Amino acid sequence: MNQDAPREEWASRSGFLLAAVGSAVGLGNMWRFSYLTAENGGAAFLVLYLGITLLVGLPVLLAEFVLGRGARRGPIGALAHYGGRGWASLGWLFVGTGFLILSYYSVISGWTLRYALTALVRGFPADAGAFFESVATGPASIAWHVGFMAISIAIVRGGVKRGIERTALVLMPLLFVLVVGLALYATTLDGARAGYRFYLEADLGALTDPKVLQAAAGQAFFSLSLGMGAMMTYASYLGQNEHLPNESLVVAIADFGVAFVAGLAVFPLIFALGLQADVGESTVGALFITLPKTFASMGGAGRLVGTLFFVALVVGALTSAISLLEVVVAAAVSGLGWSRHRAATLLGAVIAVLGIPSALSLDTLGFLDQLAGNVFLVFGGLMLALFVGWAMRDPMAEVRPGAEGVAWFGLWRWLLRIPVPIVLAVVLVQSLRALFE
Ligand code: TRP
Repeated sequence: MNQDAPREEWASRSGFLLAAVGSAVGLGNMWRFSYLTAENGGAAFLVLYLGITLLVGLPVLLAEFVLGRGARRGPIGALAHYGGRGWASLGWLFVGTGFLILSYYSVISGWTLRYALTALVRGFPADAGAFFESVATGPASIAWHVGFMAISIAIVRGGVKRGIERTALVLMPLLFVLVVGLALYATTLDGARAGYRFYLEADLGALTDPKVLQAAAGQAFFSLSLGMGAMMTYASYLGQNEHLPNESLVVAIADFGVAFVAGLAVFPLIFALGLQADVGESTVGALFITLPKTFASMGGAGRLVGTLFFVALVVGALTSAISLLEVVVAAAVSGLGWSRHRAATLLGAVIAVLGIPSALSLDTLGFLDQLAGNVFLVFGGLMLALFVGWAMRDPMAEVRPGAEGVAWFGLWRWLLRIPVPIVLAVVLVQSLRALFE
């Protein structure tokens, strides 16, 4: 049994921060964010999304950090430690959600990997729709998904410091440079202005549409990796003197920032070629069909820019996938006494198999994404808010180490008690309705 082995720790504060930002920043910031923004009225969605990130996402993020660091365990152990056996079952749900999300997340990541390599080696195919078909269906889709899982498994097997932290330290700065570079490049495009206008001019009507609220909340949770214990697990490898309120703020702002800047690249690119009508068509349309079409029509520059764009996506996807896998692995290591190697390999393989239905059917993938993002994560966040807001004995005492003298802890707990659960409960009911209508 490994239960009594000393717990692994991050080598540095920046290592933890980059790993947490790496978990948050992923396909969600580019793939999910861009199609949801397009579908839900552009800037109005953006504003609502920022508000929810700060008022709902941030308090829950801090709650996850506090529970993980305080208990020094993954979600099942942490909830058992603070709340007893009943709450530990919420931890089980979290681990199950990890299996579910990674199973389809890895499928999309596999496509992304293939796009990046194809762009590099051959350039973008002229018929983007047909290419997407061939990538996203059949045995090829399974093969790239399995390949992507193999890379994630290899990193997680390396451990917290040598696997996860080192990967984040190398890849995250690369991702920031790529995304900013792409946004700067987009300013040079003729016709970019229409893209900016769509992205940044608010259609205020959208704000009164409950669907937009639901989409914004689901997206905030997905993008911040909240509601299933990923951030909790990462925080469980922290020492006791971190300033958790500051760290959660850094993660939330970095996550929003990357999504925002990615939008500054995506929308001008799409509008410059007049392809905006394509975007809303499907959840994957914007990223995997419309943009490659744009790149293909831009000649040599398109090939270079497109390659860099998909490399950025692969990087984001990988640093997120390892955080999902780590939740599952940490649970098996501390709960079952498995070695990290064994847990990563075996459970990673199970996830690879679970992903096969999503690799074969876009409808399955889309359904699982709705179910996980809008239902499970929102439910998980609701329960966490209720737990830390009402049930947990003295959460303030657990935030304080490393952050003495912060004045707004009271506000934090109040947000978790009342506004956050109300928003999340409303969203959850709507999501359930939408799922089965
Ligand atoms: N946040 C990541 C993204 O935006 C995805 C992700 C990683 C995630 N870990 C998670 C989502 C945990 C939900 C829960 O792409």
